[in-house]
Amino acid sequence: MARFYCRWRAVLVCVCTPCISLVLLFAYITVMLCLAMSDSTAAPEPIHFVAPGTFSNQSFGPLPTTFWDLHQHGDPIWNRLQLTIDRHFNLILRPNNIERGSDNDTSYESLRTQGFSEVTNLESMRKTFDQLPQQLQEFVSHMQMRDYPTLIQPDGVCGAGAEDEREAPLLLLAIKSTERNFKNRQAIRQTWGQAGWVAGQWRKGKGGGPGGYVRRVFLLGNGREEDVGVSSSELLQMESKGYGDILQWDFRDTFFNLTLKDVLFWSWFSHSCNRTLFVLKGDDDVFVNTPRMMTYLRDQLEKPQAHKTIEDFMIGDVIVAALPNRVDKSKYFIPDSFYKGLYPQYAGGGGVVYSGLLTKRLHNMSKMVHLFPIDDVYVGMCMVRLNAGPDHHPAFLTFDFPNREEEEKLCSYHTILLVHKRSPTQVVKLWDDMNMTQSLCWDAPLREAKLKENTTKL
Ligand SMILES: *[C@@H]1O[C@H](CO)[C@@H](O)[C@H](O)[C@H]1NC(C)=O
Ligand SMILES: *[C@@H]1O[C@H](CO)[C@@H](O)[C@H](O)[C@H]1NC(C)=O
Ligand SMILES: *[C@@H]1O[C@H](CO)[C@@H](O)[C@H](O)[C@H]1NC(C)=O
Ligand SMILES: *[C@@H]1O[C@H](CO)[C@@H](O)[C@H](O)[C@H]1NC(C)=O
Ligand SMILES: *[C@@H]1O[C@H](CO)[C@@H](O)[C@H](O)[C@H]1NC(C)=O
Ligand SMILES: *[C@@H]1O[C@H](CO)[C@@H](O)[C@H](O)[C@H]1NC(C)=O
Ligand SMILES: *[C@@H]1O[C@H](CO)[C@@H](O)[C@H](O)[C@H]1NC(C)=O
Repeated sequence: MARFYCRWRAVLVCVCTPCISLVLLFAYITVMLCLAMSDSTAAPEPIHFVAPGTFSNQSFGPLPTTFWDLHQHGDPIWNRLQLTIDRHFNLILRPNNIERGSDNDTSYESLRTQGFSEVTNLESMRKTFDQLPQQLQEFVSHMQMRDYPTLIQPDGVCGAGAEDEREAPLLLLAIKSTERNFKNRQAIRQTWGQAGWVAGQWRKGKGGGPGGYVRRVFLLGNGREEDVGVSSSELLQMESKGYGDILQWDFRDTFFNLTLKDVLFWSWFSHSCNRTLFVLKGDDDVFVNTPRMMTYLRDQLEKPQAHKTIEDFMIGDVIVAALPNRVDKSKYFIPDSFYKGLYPQYAGGGGVVYSGLLTKRLHNMSKMVHLFPIDDVYVGMCMVRLNAGPDHHPAFLTFDFPNREEEEKLCSYHTILLVHKRSPTQVVKLWDDMNMTQSLCWDAPLREAKLKENTTKL
């Protein structure tokens, strides 16, 4: 009897265990389905992927808000284009891309071009395109083009500088200029932009402190169309022969083409200037306290862990959580249909300093980021993707001194590293003033953050 019972129990166990499992599984699926359905009817709770180094948990523009969010509301053109590239390099969707051995310039270019034609062939995108302002249409229709020919480049490998450098240059001054701004270039050459050996901050009784070699190059597009005749480019050829500091490419020198200067400069730097430790990228209407800058940069190299921080080193006037300018009369106007989201934090383009190593990393990264019409924002976009961010330094005044009182103090210019905007005449005068006051102001400390500066919108 006992044996019989046992056999029946075995049968029961055999038959019922799968049954019970199936019932449980069914119940589980039902519950999950109900949950999923009720989820989709409830207000969506977006899970945001916020790029590291940003302060915002709102929809963040340059990256898709979620990896899998295929539908971007309103389909802004730039976000949509970038999404095709970001998806390609997404480690979750395509783990094999970790090994990027086969990636080269040709493959990046074809990836960008392929995404571009996919997106711009969409009916909705064509409609959006037609409604963009003229200047942006111009930008979009040329935005896959990057390899513009070089018209003029320095004879020396890395811009104007000393021939007999005994060590790697400490600083390369890379100044965005235009053909017509000859006066600005001349003022820079005579004052803060002198190439060769430059001493550091002046010390009482000891003269200039330890410095380094400085090189200089001006970045220009092709301005022929805006001037009369071809004479201006002949003048530029002569200027280049005389100073050896002109780097000119054959694209129209317009505001929305300024990003090309960064991208092409990074490429030129990586091939011709790659030993240089730091780069100062500025406009041709800034004034730089070069001796102070030399001392500041040398100090960075002597810090513990310097080799680590230099990888990500970028300082300037940092703008956090800026919104695109939506005023259609503005030079900076970017409509909702072109770009959605906040801008990443970025350093104001008037003047910013970054390391040579970071320049090479930006060069590599820029191949995976579609051009954006506002140059300093574009640099910020590349930085986010390098998982790096610029550091704010209050001695970079890309929006000038906060008030007249501070500026008019005797030693005010000795406390800063860079100020925007100054005319060529002002630059020359400031340089002379600095020379005259250096024995009085030699120990004036660098400007520090006094009050937290307000977020600035472009
Ligand atoms: C993050 O989002 C929450 C809720 O949406 C908001 O209260 C908070 O201020 C946000 N934080 C930042 C840093 O934006
Ligand atoms: C670049 O990569 C593509 C595919 O990834 C390959 O077909 C091509 O030969 C490569 N070109 C060079 C110069 O390595
Ligand atoms: C940029 O330069 C190219 C080449 O000269 C030109 O065709 C294009 O119109 C320019 N883009 C803008 C936005 O001005
Ligand atoms: C680095 O620059 C030198 C010239 O200064 C050049 O000969 C070399 O090819 C460059 N290296 C790379 C990797 O481009
Ligand atoms: C840039 O990319 C090239 C080729 O993929 C690589 O050899 C080089 O190490 C990279 N440079 C930096 C600084 O990451
Ligand atoms: C500073 O002024 C002195 C004379 O007052 C002059 O010899 C020197 O060259 C000047 N230095 C610079 C950097 O202009
Ligand atoms: C920001 O600017 C406003 C007005 O200009 C001022 O009242 C406020 O104190 C500023 N905030 C900070 C943190 O400086």
